[in-house]
Amino acid sequence: MSIVHAKDTPYTWGFYDELNPIFLNYVCALNGHHPVPIKDGFSYCDLGCGFGVTANGLAQLFPQGKFTGIDFNEDHIATATELAKDCGSTNIEFMTLDVNHITDAELPQYDFIILHGVLSWVDPGTRENIRQFVADHIKDDGIVYVSYNSLPGWAALAPLRDVVLTHTAGMTTDYLMKTQAGLDYLDFMATNNAAFFVDNPPAREFLAEIKTRDIEYVAHELLIEFTKAYYFHQVAAEYRSAGLSYSGNADLYLNFIDLAVPAEFREILLKATSRFEFESRGDFIRNQRFRKDVYKNSRKTMSEEEQLETLSHIVFGTSCMVPEFQTSVAFGDVELKYAGDVFTGLIEVLSTTPKCAAELVQMDQFKAYGLDLVIDALKFLSAGGQVVPMRENANGRTDLDIDADRYSIPASFNVQLLKRRLLQQDALGLIAPKAGVGISVSMADALFALCLVEANKDEVPNWVFQRLLEARQELQFEGGTETEAIAAAVEKFRATRLPKFLELGILEPAE
Ligand SMILES: C[S@@+](CC[C@H](N)C(=O)[O-])C[C@H]1O[C@@H](n2cnc3c(N)ncnc32)[C@H](O)[C@@H]1O
Repeated sequence: MSIVHAKDTPYTWGFYDELNPIFLNYVCALNGHHPVPIKDGFSYCDLGCGFGVTANGLAQLFPQGKFTGIDFNEDHIATATELAKDCGSTNIEFMTLDVNHITDAELPQYDFIILHGVLSWVDPGTRENIRQFVADHIKDDGIVYVSYNSLPGWAALAPLRDVVLTHTAGMTTDYLMKTQAGLDYLDFMATNNAAFFVDNPPAREFLAEIKTRDIEYVAHELLIEFTKAYYFHQVAAEYRSAGLSYSGNADLYLNFIDLAVPAEFREILLKATSRFEFESRGDFIRNQRFRKDVYKNSRKTMSEEEQLETLSHIVFGTSCMVPEFQTSVAFGDVELKYAGDVFTGLIEVLSTTPKCAAELVQMDQFKAYGLDLVIDALKFLSAGGQVVPMRENANGRTDLDIDADRYSIPASFNVQLLKRRLLQQDALGLIAPKAGVGISVSMADALFALCLVEANKDEVPNWVFQRLLEARQELQFEGGTETEAIAAAVEKFRATRLPKFLELGILEPAE
């Protein structure tokens, strides 16, 4: 039998900042729901937490939070627990529990419950038990995050799994080899224009995409014992019956009519009489294949004044500096261009100093725009993902010493992640303690950051070279000999990324 069981199949080492309480609160505020107060403490449960990477990172960002990670895969929980221990975290616990028997464990109610990539990978009975767990364990006013493979987009991809299962049925190799064999088979079919791929261009695109992903992720997509995609309305009905109200989409751009669909379809969405209709019609127009939904355990909504007040105090900063900021972002067929003085000004200010709209309108350059317009501009900027909601006291650059001889990494979570995962995946999710967010860092930047910690200034390029040699890895650099190219890349990192890393608290000058 070639199907693999979730209980025995390790997952990937992803950090997902959309699971950050600050971000989830922002989704709610954008959609007129009250955020959960987090300053003085909150409880957070990640059900089906995998290796607990996100939960561990968040636990360190929010010492006032109490975090619980649950998974029935013993290997996941052992790794997650060890990571928590090595990070020195005392506000997180991991439990090996099957959600089907969770009633035996006396668990409390939570402010946040996370179901990230779980619903589509469990059988109907387990799905119902998850719904019941959420109904029983979410606090009044709490927030629930649910992501899953969605229809109609997934419909064109589902046959890939059957093909792979058939192809690998007789194989006796381990599941990763089977997964690779399945990928190779699909690749052969696509390259030789098997009619399925000719008739289903999204399947070809999907194959190209998964070929670049971790093999463990692909195994979960193609070989896991149970997978099923859902329409938004199916999941929404289930969670409505658990007492929840749909709040909005964690793919922020999908909350905006101007960005959610191309211009010719906007009129249709404008006429939607409910958010359910808006989402369902949008999914068809975009052929949505994955959804990230945020629910609130409350029927209450904010008044317009309350919403304006809430949004005006959310602090935003950037994940990159001005030269790297993309002023045009594409969402499928919709392109968003940040043209105009208000966008240019906001990008410039926020790239160095996180601020909220209430502060920004006090500045001479934004006064004339007024609060509403600045908030709207921030919404569009945040939709593009480069401007992100941060913690209230994200204090921006104070003493950015980009010429120190050595640096250190203040967050033990980042140290542990670099120790375990450096050069093992394309990007690493590191936490930014000063900003209260996680950001995705390319493996080259992660390597340079680590070498700035391990070597004195003049030795950094050599150190990078040695690290790559030891790991038998190559990074793609522009021009010159390898050592010259590495030295140039390190210099570029110092000029463009190091100031951001210092501002965010990923690095700091060594004592
Ligand atoms: C696709 S993975 C997602 C992992 C993690 N949320 C992430 O996104 O990195 C699904 C996870 O759900 C867990 N899981 C599946 N069925 C479960 C059950 N009945 N009880 C507890 N955990 C379960 C699996 O072990 C796996 O770690």
